[in-house]
Amino acid sequence: MRFYSVSGSAAQQRTDCAIVGLYESGALSHAAAQLDSALGGRIARLVKRRDLRGKAGATMLLDVDGGPCQRVLVVGLGKKDEFGRRQYRKAVQAAATALGKTGTRDAVSYISSEPVADTDAYYRGRLAAEAVSAALYRIPAIRSARRPTAPALRSFGVAVPDKDQKSDAELGLEHGRGIAAGASLTRDLANLPANVCTPTYLAKQARELARQYRAVRVEVLDERELRRLKMGSFLSVTAGTEEPARLIVLRYQGAAAAQPPVALVGKGVTFDSGGISLKQPVGMDEMKFDMTGAASVLGAIKAAAELELPLNLVGVVPACENLPSGRATKPGDIVHSMSGQTIEVINTDAEGRLILCDALTYVRKFRPAIVLDIATLTGACVVALGAHTTAVMSNEDDLAAEITAAGRRADDRAWHMPMGEEYHEMLKSNFADFANSCGREAGAITAACFLAKFTDGLRWAHLDIAGTAYVTGAQKGSTGRPVPLLMDFLIHRCRK
Ligand code: BES
Ligand code: MN
Ligand code: ZN
Repeated sequence: MRFYSVSGSAAQQRTDCAIVGLYESGALSHAAAQLDSALGGRIARLVKRRDLRGKAGATMLLDVDGGPCQRVLVVGLGKKDEFGRRQYRKAVQAAATALGKTGTRDAVSYISSEPVADTDAYYRGRLAAEAVSAALYRIPAIRSARRPTAPALRSFGVAVPDKDQKSDAELGLEHGRGIAAGASLTRDLANLPANVCTPTYLAKQARELARQYRAVRVEVLDERELRRLKMGSFLSVTAGTEEPARLIVLRYQGAAAAQPPVALVGKGVTFDSGGISLKQPVGMDEMKFDMTGAASVLGAIKAAAELELPLNLVGVVPACENLPSGRATKPGDIVHSMSGQTIEVINTDAEGRLILCDALTYVRKFRPAIVLDIATLTGACVVALGAHTTAVMSNEDDLAAEITAAGRRADDRAWHMPMGEEYHEMLKSNFADFANSCGREAGAITAACFLAKFTDGLRWAHLDIAGTAYVTGAQKGSTGRPVPLLMDFLIHRCRK
C-alpha cells in the first residue's frame, strides 16, 4: 500500500474514490459539502430522503461518473461532538473494509481533514494507515481451496485542511505503515495453529527478521543451554511436551551500541492446555493465542526496523508448550528459578509467570534502561477489564503513566492497576520461597506481584493482554495489540 497526503478541495482531486463523512445529525462533513455542490446537491438529497444516514460505521458507495472521482464513499461518523480517535479510526476502517470489496485501486480519505478531538495531522495520518492495513488484513488461510482474491486497493491518500500539515501527515502515514507491518506479523503468528506455530517456528520467524533487516540480530537457545543457565522454572513448564522449547533473543540496534536498550519480554506459550491442572475443553483452542506476547515482541522489532527508530531494543522470548504427560510438572512440585528463588508450583496452569520469571532474570545481562513484559497472563485480567483494555502493573508509577499515555495516543488503551505488600503476601508458601498461584481474588495483580519478585532494581512494567490480544466469537482472531501502544511508547522515547 502506498500512502500519501493531499490538500485542497475534494471537488478537484482526482481519485478512484473520495471518502467523505456524514454526521448522525445529517450534517455533511466539509468535503461532503464540497462534493455535494459539485454534484448538484445529490448527496444532500439522499440525506434528506433518509437514504443516507450518519450512523457510525455505516457506508454507502455512490457512482458519480464524470467528475474528478469515479466514486464517493459516504461514511457515517456518528455524533459530531463525540468524534475522537476511536471513532475516527473506526470510520476509516469501515471505509477501507467497504472499498476492499470493490475494484477501487486508489482512494482519498477526507474524513482525515475533519476535526478529530485531541489529534493532529500526524495522528490522523498514522491512525488512518493503521486502520486501512487492519481492514485489508487477511488471516493466513490453511484451506484446501485457493485463497480468495486480494483487495484491489493499492494507494490511499489522506486529506489535510492546510498545505503545511502535509509533512506531519506524511510522517504519521509512514509511522502507521511501519506499525501496521509489525502488527500484521503479530497477527499472522498468533492466528497460526499451534501445530504450525511451535517454539521452533517462532525461532525461525525471528531468524527471518534478522535476515530481512541489517539492524536485527538473533540468537536462539535450546534446552541444553537453558539447563546450563539454570532456568529451572522455564524448563518445568516444557517438561510435559515432546516439542522442544526455545529462548529467542532478538537485538535491534538503531543507536550507538553503548546506549542501554529497551527490553521487551514476551510470553511465548504456543499452546496452553493448563498442563496437569488441565483446562476445561470449552475455548481451549484459543490457547493457541497464548504466544501473543511473543508475537508482539517480534512485531515491535519488525516495526522498529521498518522505521529505523534511533534506539536499541532487546527482545527476549521464552517459547514452549504447556502439556500434561508422564514427565509433566505436578502441583506441589518445587522448582528452582534462574534467580535462585524457589517456587512451589501450586497450579501448572499458572505457567506464564514461570517462563517469564527466568526470562526477566536473563534480560539483566543486557543492562536495559527499561524492561516491558507482554503476556496473555491471566483470565482474571479479562474479568477485571474485559476485552478492551490492557492491564499495566509497574514498580514505577511514572513508567506506568508513560505506558497508559502511549495507549491513549495510539488508541490501544491500557489501565494502571495496583500492586503492593498485601498482594505479595497472598503468594506465601510453606515449602518454597513463594507459590506460583493463590486464590481467585485479584488474580491479575498477584500474577504481576509474582513477576515483580524477579525485577528488583529494574525499571519494569508488565502488560497483561489476556483480554486484548485476540477477539473471540464469529470474528475470532488476533488483534495485533499491543503493538500500536508499544510503538507509540518507543517513538515517543525517541522524540524526547
Ligand atoms: N494463558 C492463561 C491466561 C488466559 C486466560 C489468557 C484466558 C487468555 C484468556 C494463563 O496461563 C492461565 O491459565 N492463567 C490462570 C492462572 C491461575 C491458574 C492462577 C488463569 O487465569 O486461570
Ligand atoms: Mn495457563
Ligand atoms: Zn497461559
